[in-house]
Amino acid sequence: MSRQSLTPQQQAWVDALLAQMTVEEKAGQLHQLSPSIVGGFDVSFEELIEMFTDGRISPAEFGKIMSTSTRDYHEDDIRAGRVSSYLLDDPETANRLQKIAVEESRLGIPLLFGLDVIHGYRTVFPIPLAETCSWDTELFEASARVAAREASARGVRWTFAPMVDVARDARWGRISESPGEDPYLAAEYARAKVWGFQGRDGVTQENVASCLKHFVGYGAVEGGRDYNTVSMSRSMLHNGYLPPVKAGVEAGAMTVMAAFNDVNGVPCTVNGYLLRDILKERYGFGGFVVSDATAIRECVTHGIAADLADASLQSIRAGLDMDMNSCAYHNHLAEQVRSGAVPMELLDDAVRRVLEVKTALGLFEDPYVSLERAARYETLPQDHLDLALEAAEKSIVLLKNQGELLPLSKSCKIALVGALADQPAEVLGAWAISGRESDCVSIRAGLEKTGVQVAYAPVCGPADAPDSEQMRRELEAAAAGADVIVAVVGESTAMSGEAASRSDITLPGKQRKLLELALATGKSVAAVLVNGRPLALQWEDEHIPAILECWQLGVRMGDAVAAVLLGECAPTGKLCCTFPAVTGQCPSYYNHPNTGRPGSKSKFTSRYLDAPVKPLYPFGHGLTYTKFQCRDLQIAENGDALEISVVAANTGKRPGVETLQLYLRDVTASLVRPVQELKGFCKVFLDPGGEKTVGFTLPKADMGFYDDGGNYRLEPGEFVISVGGSSEDVLKGSIWLKF
Ligand code: BGC
Repeated sequence: MSRQSLTPQQQAWVDALLAQMTVEEKAGQLHQLSPSIVGGFDVSFEELIEMFTDGRISPAEFGKIMSTSTRDYHEDDIRAGRVSSYLLDDPETANRLQKIAVEESRLGIPLLFGLDVIHGYRTVFPIPLAETCSWDTELFEASARVAAREASARGVRWTFAPMVDVARDARWGRISESPGEDPYLAAEYARAKVWGFQGRDGVTQENVASCLKHFVGYGAVEGGRDYNTVSMSRSMLHNGYLPPVKAGVEAGAMTVMAAFNDVNGVPCTVNGYLLRDILKERYGFGGFVVSDATAIRECVTHGIAADLADASLQSIRAGLDMDMNSCAYHNHLAEQVRSGAVPMELLDDAVRRVLEVKTALGLFEDPYVSLERAARYETLPQDHLDLALEAAEKSIVLLKNQGELLPLSKSCKIALVGALADQPAEVLGAWAISGRESDCVSIRAGLEKTGVQVAYAPVCGPADAPDSEQMRRELEAAAAGADVIVAVVGESTAMSGEAASRSDITLPGKQRKLLELALATGKSVAAVLVNGRPLALQWEDEHIPAILECWQLGVRMGDAVAAVLLGECAPTGKLCCTFPAVTGQCPSYYNHPNTGRPGSKSKFTSRYLDAPVKPLYPFGHGLTYTKFQCRDLQIAENGDALEISVVAANTGKRPGVETLQLYLRDVTASLVRPVQELKGFCKVFLDPGGEKTVGFTLPKADMGFYDDGGNYRLEPGEFVISVGGSSEDVLKGSIWLKF
């Protein structure tokens, strides 16, 4: 969002409003709260989320608590104009509080209600990591649009999404919320999500303000441990982590959330280089920046601020506009302005940004939510459900399919094993706080609906440790008479998302034992993975003939998995994140800088003694039920761009879709550049035997990189261009450019 998003009249109106405000009222516009005593639980919102994600309360209970909350909402503070925003999912409470703000406060400035609507609201879509594997920007936008429609109907006009953290370490639990490891794909994702949430047609009641988060580098936390420290060069920051933020800002994002972590020693919350110099000045971001939950307060724990007052001072000076849950601005800002420690212009700038977002959302004209509208999506509409199915199908990635075991024939008898197959709520994944278990289709239910013969046994789940003998008995009973075993294994929802890092990303619990028992029956075994991060599947890849990565796909998961298993729909997903062979390879990502001794079989190279150098499944990998080949790579200069083409052919027996990927390598540069960087992609549909010439235009302006001063450089020299169906299956050519 830029100031220009408002009309001159609106800008003048905001200025006039600002001129009437007291210092307390101004500080009040920078104060956000989340329920602290909710529905009888004397816990913070974060703790409540934790109780939900670690399974202490079910999604149903969570939803109930959120919608029947009875806490004291600081009504006197609202009346005094000292609260700006709440995290809230309850239209009746929202209207009640809004009435106080609009009708009883001196200036009648409306409250802004925000919530984490991360991958759908009631209609829960695939987790972001899964959806990104669709490489489908129209889908990214459409699913955000549906989420905005459903959330805004219940008064939520601000979502803390999209999460655009480039994530390269599969140990980090929040990789599930991210668009994966590539800055180009993440930028496409960011842009589409901002458009989807905020709409492209100006103010409507169905728009919600988006929030690019977490600004920035959160995906690079050391050791993949959540909230940990981040050290990286400025060139890496600009080349690898900032592109999705820049794209989201250019698409008009109204808000940005500062990350919990420090970058090179300075917590993002108080990082003036990031918030002011880069975000607001260089990118021209005109919306407001909110802290992450209690992050201002945490600056004291970081050891960067003496106390809450000091943290408040540092935050406002750095360009942090709204305080989520620390009460730092609430307690200290007005006094700091009065004492001259904080210039009034700084406060005014922050408040103006907040007022402009509220204006852009139309909150001043239309502050309430109609209860009739709030009930509109309680039964999920068919078009939302259809989109959820499409998204789920397109997010599935076929990792391995030896002997074309998949698709299964509809006449075969399936032994379905694994507790995850029959736990409807597990399809939701992390951060689906408004989803309802009753809307979810489990894999078992999805398969049974098709009429195919299924014998089911839970045998074991990710967190169980049943007796091995009992597991064997259960599995053999289900497998008796079956033609094929479909083993559903993976992670529970609580094993990914926030505060859910893992130091060992192999299949948890006794699930490998389950696979061993399945193989011991001598029947064909297909593994269906349900998980929120890349897993280390070296053993599984060696032993299991077919592996289908199904992630956590949202409310239609079971239908989508059944359609793909039975061949009604071919898998088309391509990985947006590398799958390491073993956990010790983390972080493992395709676009790494080259070493002077790239890993090989010889000893003195960049390698491990006890693990391969290469990942198991690379970025961009994903099979389908037919085969594609590329030939005839052509690269030609055409003015300010390169024209690149290949001939793609469907050499298999079924129609299919291939996602062709364009990669670049700058062979000689003044900084070590990645061995490959994604620069474009396109989908091609081909019938068996069909072929097509597929073209890419690569603007020369996109062939540069940022140096350590954050300056963009286009350096002449040789460039390797590659095109193919994965980052490791490409045709290569090269070209010399002078620019
Ligand atoms: C998370 C954010 C989230 C916020 C509000 C924090 O713990 O890091 O991503 O938006 O809570 O729920």
